Amino acid sequence: MGTEALAMVAQQDLARDGCVAQIQRLNPRMDTTTDFDVRAWRSLPATQQPDWPDPVALRDVLTELRGYPPLVFPTECDQLRARLAAVARGEAFLLQSGDCAETFDAVAVDQISNKIKIMAQMAAVLTYATSVPVVKVGRMAGQYAKPRSSPVETRDGTTLPVYRGDAVNGVEFTPESRTPNPERLKQMYRASSMTLNLIRGLLACGYANPWQAHRWNRDFVALTPAGQQYRRLAREIDKALPVARGSGLDSNFAPETEFYVSHEALLLDYEDAMTCPDQVTGDLYDLSAHMVWIGERTRRLDGAHVEFASGVRNPIGVKLGPASIPDDVLALIDKLDPEREPGRLTFITRMGARRIRDVLPTLVEKVTAAGAQVAWVCDPMHGNTFEAPSGHKTRRFEDVSDEVAGFLEVHRALGAHPGGIHIELTGDDVTECIGGGTSADDLHQRYETACDPRLNRSQSLELAFRIADLYRDK
Ligand code: PEP
Ligand code: CO
Repeated sequence: MGTEALAMVAQQDLARDGCVAQIQRLNPRMDTTTDFDVRAWRSLPATQQPDWPDPVALRDVLTELRGYPPLVFPTECDQLRARLAAVARGEAFLLQSGDCAETFDAVAVDQISNKIKIMAQMAAVLTYATSVPVVKVGRMAGQYAKPRSSPVETRDGTTLPVYRGDAVNGVEFTPESRTPNPERLKQMYRASSMTLNLIRGLLACGYANPWQAHRWNRDFVALTPAGQQYRRLAREIDKALPVARGSGLDSNFAPETEFYVSHEALLLDYEDAMTCPDQVTGDLYDLSAHMVWIGERTRRLDGAHVEFASGVRNPIGVKLGPASIPDDVLALIDKLDPEREPGRLTFITRMGARRIRDVLPTLVEKVTAAGAQVAWVCDPMHGNTFEAPSGHKTRRFEDVSDEVAGFLEVHRALGAHPGGIHIELTGDDVTECIGGGTSADDLHQRYETACDPRLNRSQSLELAFRIADLYRDK
């Protein structure tokens, strides 16, 4: 064999060994009798779980789910943890975004690829603005379950279980639709798998590449004010990206080829069924997503959600609302990140524009003083929701933008790293948030969210530009 042929065989061997190593790291998922630490969550109070009417049907579904292939690999979770470590060190910026609640109906090429596209465009602007690579993490391929403020909903004197996301029940207000159905957990797996498959395909053909983002000028980008601004910047962005790419990070980090998925780890039965030990290290991974987070309503220290998250090696996010108490936050670090490992823990603050400047400084100071290197990320959505006169749940773009500004100010004043943003958005032209061309009177036109209002594509791009301005003003 000639040297070229030998080199090719060697390369194929390497690729195959890499795949074999990945597969070897997976074990059949444990059945319910296996006594692993992660199961400790079962003896603790788990809030926000559906009232499944038929425990046997639930058990059968979970057994079936345990036999399904994992959606992601442990090595991918480890890679994201390394990226988030860079975020925690101030060497990368996180863009985590997607729907408040994904729906089975919206598993469609257009909706998914539009989301990937707007995230790539935002990433291009943010890379340019921050001079560091942007780590893209979708609220995608698994964001199907929602915490709710009440277990029931009453309309015209009829009370039914509240809609808890497509993973649990239907949005339609009928007893059949609102009764939790565990078969939906299998649908959640399938919808996640279809979405992830499309994302991986789009990634493979360079679609999520922010370096290519200027090529999309011809579509909406050319038609909106934010789009025109984007077009003017495209050439400059082109020049700046290779510089940002090379800054400070290991040479294996190619943000243009990476896209990760995440969701709230709310339905612990599902997350548990998707959990698998790494055969090499023995560590447990929740292989339903690269990253999972714990919501504001389920983050109590002695609760089942925190216990579950403490048992898996995935990068973990925790939402922190305006009532967060520093001692609780420090206790969450002890529980979830006892080794103080950068990249393990991301705090996603959602204080509201009016509170962020008062509440965040003490938290950042105390966490820094405790020696933890967490990633701080701003969710400017969930503290700024209100009901419009028309009855629509909405948010003002100006509040969203102001909360991000407050977040950056607080970090700057403390010499800390603002790690990134966590946004509810869609790549479609919906009218769910007020501002950037959508008034309160327009909300009814394309109000399509299954839960919270999302920024539409031009509002999303506009937000990226606002952030660029905030970095420029620094
Ligand atoms: C969400 O992210 O959709 C959500 C419910 O957030 P939080 O837990 O911060 O209220
Ligand atoms: Co939401």
